[in-house]
Amino acid sequence: MVRITGEHVGRRVTVRSRTPSGSATDVVGDLVGYDDGTLRVRDRDGVEHAVALADLIAGHPVSARPAPGRVVQLERVAAAGWPAVDTEPLGEWLLRAAGGFTSRANSALAIGASGLPFPAAAERVRAWYAERGLPGRAAVVLPSPEDDAFAAAGWTPRDAVLVQTADVAGVLDALPPSPVRADVRPEPSDGWLARYTARGQVTAEGREVLTGGPRVGFAHAGDGAEPPGIGRGVVVADWLGVSAIEVDPGARGRGYGKAVTRALFEWGAANGARRAYLQVESGNRPAVALYAALGLRTHHRYRYRFAPG
Ligand SMILES: CC(C)(COP(=O)(O)OP(=O)(O)OC[C@H]1O[C@@H](n2cnc3c(N)ncnc32)[C@H](O)[C@@H]1OP(=O)(O)O)[C@@H](O)C(=O)NCCC(=O)NCCS
Repeated sequence: MVRITGEHVGRRVTVRSRTPSGSATDVVGDLVGYDDGTLRVRDRDGVEHAVALADLIAGHPVSARPAPGRVVQLERVAAAGWPAVDTEPLGEWLLRAAGGFTSRANSALAIGASGLPFPAAAERVRAWYAERGLPGRAAVVLPSPEDDAFAAAGWTPRDAVLVQTADVAGVLDALPPSPVRADVRPEPSDGWLARYTARGQVTAEGREVLTGGPRVGFAHAGDGAEPPGIGRGVVVADWLGVSAIEVDPGARGRGYGKAVTRALFEWGAANGARRAYLQVESGNRPAVALYAALGLRTHHRYRYRFAPG
């Protein structure tokens, strides 16, 4: 029996299908696509299997395993690198708020044990955000038992976000020094903040998030009161976190993105970072192409889920 639909993208599935010779073959892995009459399943070795719906014999979702330690660690590093203003632990989960400035700083990082039965934990998340006038939102690793549990409770998914990593030295090797002038400052200039508004208004809490973190740097690329290219770096332990890369729409394709990235990686290296991470939406083609060319590879994926209603 086939019990897989497009709703299960991101879940672990097991699939049995007919081969051209008429025998049956099984694959277990993450359902990464369900379109054009084809399922795409990525197995534990990262190999993607395309299975035509017409060849399906049986298939169903299976329970996800807990996120591996390296994923948990990196998620905690990333949370420290984009610190919310108001936080409270819920067992191993972390409730985070910053007046609504960015999803990351206004979502419960739901990884591991909350210390409560799931329905009570989900209700606690919803209520904690409601007290702050914010929608209940959870950040969950894909796939994970937490994502499955929120899904079963009817929490609405947003698109998957890729967390990509690389060695700092490798990226610097792949990225020659830029002809575009760029520098990294300890504070964002007014022009930096004005450029950032393409993503969202920087409120007082927003400024606290941006300037929070153990050590932060703000890349300004190009000339003018409002720099054509901006980005933010943070060093947490030996990790460089890169975020807020934004280029003036009228100046794209002229090397500002590379200049910002180069400046942030040089700054990270000078501040002791050996590895780097960033978060990028899977559908953001220019950014994914830029990062792929620099050697960044997907480490894991996560997504937000919103409380029903
Ligand atoms: C992603 C972004 C920062 C790139 O900035 P940019 O100044 O246009 O980039 P560059 O001119 O330095 O180009 C660097 C590389 O990015 C890739 N790239 C840039 N635009 C691209 C596009 N439209 N399609 C495909 N690849 C693209 C290419 O690999 C390019 O290298 P190449 O010129 O050698 O081909 C810019 O598109 C942007 O501001 N987007 C909106 C904000 C955003 O998505 N930020 C990243 C969030 S994670």
